[in-house]
Amino acid sequence: MGSKRRIAKDILPIILKNRMPEQFYVEPFCGGCNMIELVEGNRIANDYNEYVAEMWNALVNRNWQPPTEITEEQYNDIKANKEQYSKELVGFTGIAVTFGSTWFGTYARNKRGTNYAMEGRSNLMKQVERLQGTIFTSSSYCDIALPKNSIIYCDPPYEGVAGYKDKFNHIAFWQWCREKAKEGHCVFISEYNAPNDFECIWQSELKTNMNAKYETKPVEKLFKFSPTNVQ
Ligand SMILES: C[S@@+](CC[C@H](N)C(=O)[O-])C[C@H]1O[C@@H](n2cnc3c(N)ncnc32)[C@H](O)[C@@H]1O
Repeated sequence: MGSKRRIAKDILPIILKNRMPEQFYVEPFCGGCNMIELVEGNRIANDYNEYVAEMWNALVNRNWQPPTEITEEQYNDIKANKEQYSKELVGFTGIAVTFGSTWFGTYARNKRGTNYAMEGRSNLMKQVERLQGTIFTSSSYCDIALPKNSIIYCDPPYEGVAGYKDKFNHIAFWQWCREKAKEGHCVFISEYNAPNDFECIWQSELKTNMNAKYETKPVEKLFKFSPTNVQ
């Protein structure tokens, strides 16, 4: 859920269009790092989920090798006793060995006996190469130390879609975006809807298996703060 890989080729050229050399690209909600891995140069990847952030840090900066197998028994023990395991292992287990990339959803298994840990591991190892040089942090989006005039791409938990670790205050989030834009950052947001003072600068109908849950097909949109839109 939530991976931006399929739309990256459409929205990244828009987001990076006026990027200056050395200008930082910041993702406060990096999750699976599917977008930021395609960006070059100065980058900060942040996620509130300290286990996921530490997994990335360990993979990219400490050459950590994830396990090649995680049994259902191990999965349940890691899920129930997170403090007894390294953060990177908890992060890996919570996102790579569960169905639909939901944080500690259902243990991934099928009749063919696919080794999901092995698959997850090899997918992550492919990303590691592309993420060299990225700074990884873990805090709430509003506490990130932002370099001046950054490009900020936000892919927050979507409003009205369940499945995240903690409750998310959408009103406070939009307010933070306004403030950051006024401070001189370029702020882009992926969401289905936004307040009136945010302009939709790109949209496309989503073709995902999540569609079954919705009465109408969700339209993936990219917004930018545009104070002139306020009536
Ligand atoms: C939609 S996912 C990001 C998906 C990612 N861009 C990708 O393509 O794989 C949203 C992420 O926001 C994180 N998150 C939730 N609340 C947060 C907060 N207050 N601050 C920072 N990250 C948060 C979640 O842990 C989750 O990884």
